[in-house]
Amino acid sequence: MTPFLSVRDLYVRFATEDGTVRAVDGLSFTLERGRTLGIVGESGSGKSVTNLAVLGLHDPRTTEIRGEVLLDGQELTGAPESVLEKLRGNKVAMVFQDSLTALSPYYTVGRQIAEPYRKHTGASRREARLRAVEMLRRVGITDPALRVDDYPHQFSGGMRQRAMIAMALVCDPELLIADEPTTALDVTVQAQILDLLKELQQQTGAAIVLVTHDLGVVAGTVDDLLVMYAGRAVEQGPVREVLRAPRHPYTWGLLGSMPRLSSDVGQPLTPIPGTPPSLLAPPPGCPFHPRCAYAASVAEDRCRTERPSLPPGRGAACHLGEERQRSVFAERIRPRLG
Ligand SMILES: Nc1ncnc2c1ncn2[C@@H]1O[C@H](COP(=O)(O)OP(=O)(O)OP(=O)(O)O)[C@@H](O)[C@H]1O
Ligand code: SF4
Ligand SMILES: [Mg+2]
Repeated sequence: MTPFLSVRDLYVRFATEDGTVRAVDGLSFTLERGRTLGIVGESGSGKSVTNLAVLGLHDPRTTEIRGEVLLDGQELTGAPESVLEKLRGNKVAMVFQDSLTALSPYYTVGRQIAEPYRKHTGASRREARLRAVEMLRRVGITDPALRVDDYPHQFSGGMRQRAMIAMALVCDPELLIADEPTTALDVTVQAQILDLLKELQQQTGAAIVLVTHDLGVVAGTVDDLLVMYAGRAVEQGPVREVLRAPRHPYTWGLLGSMPRLSSDVGQPLTPIPGTPPSLLAPPPGCPFHPRCAYAASVAEDRCRTERPSLPPGRGAACHLGEERQRSVFAERIRPRLG
């Protein structure tokens, strides 16, 4: 059976004055209805570029996109703008980090939720307004029938983010892409919003892609995890397995460098040495090799010369091999993570 969302061998390249930026470099993943895929990785690893490619939002004049994005069997790469336009906000919706810039200051919150509903369903103004009130109620806004007439600046940051989610979900999308939807919010509100997404997912069976910097967030929210580095997937699998027994040295680095919600307050975090590579000229072989403590221990200089492939399902794109990955993690990494 074909997966609901299938991204296969996706390449996204930008033509810039300095040369070609290889932002996404052969990425593949799948997602089923009712499930949530978390995407994590350092800044610049290609998370947002991937999602914008899925949504068909890149500027075709400066962006070269290759590969396949299939949604419910429909090919989206290269699909005409009219087709994509119809999908966005209807079958596919998105929530981005910055709700202040995403909501227009000139229209009431209610109107901004009601408009896409009217557009996609042909509902009357009155019906769409009722729907907006209902959506505000569902996302946990108190007195929704009153607040529907507020302007965005009358809402708090957390309320605006909820309103964004109401806007994204108003047409019952089958795929929701949430790119750092809670980063700007305090931890309690973050948790509430993620719970809300899960709850709405249980009601509608939507598939969700959740991009986050925060491994504490993914642990309780997503089913599967994709770890990205330099435009590639370096590790993937069910989230519990990836967090319990990560196999890629980069994932080890991420785990050691990210604060987690539950534990280790006050514990020193270890940053990953070095910086992410230039995407104008990514390193050959494994793109992580200049930063990897294990590259020298792999025979025949393979880390520098041979691009490791990511096995489908559970696995890591790394030449160390499963057995060594397990033993290094157990002996050296886990004790440090505490
Ligand atoms: N339109 C563009 N033109 C040129 N380069 C771009 C363009 N959009 C993104 N990039 C580059 O592509 C790379 C991936 O960017 P992307 O926004 O996907 O990172 P990200 O993983 O979402 O990072 P963050 O966690 O900071 O949001 C970055 O190096 C970025 O500078
Ligand atoms: S392939 Fe080599 S350089 Fe890349 S992560 Fe594995 S050991 Fe490190
Ligand atoms: Mg981003």
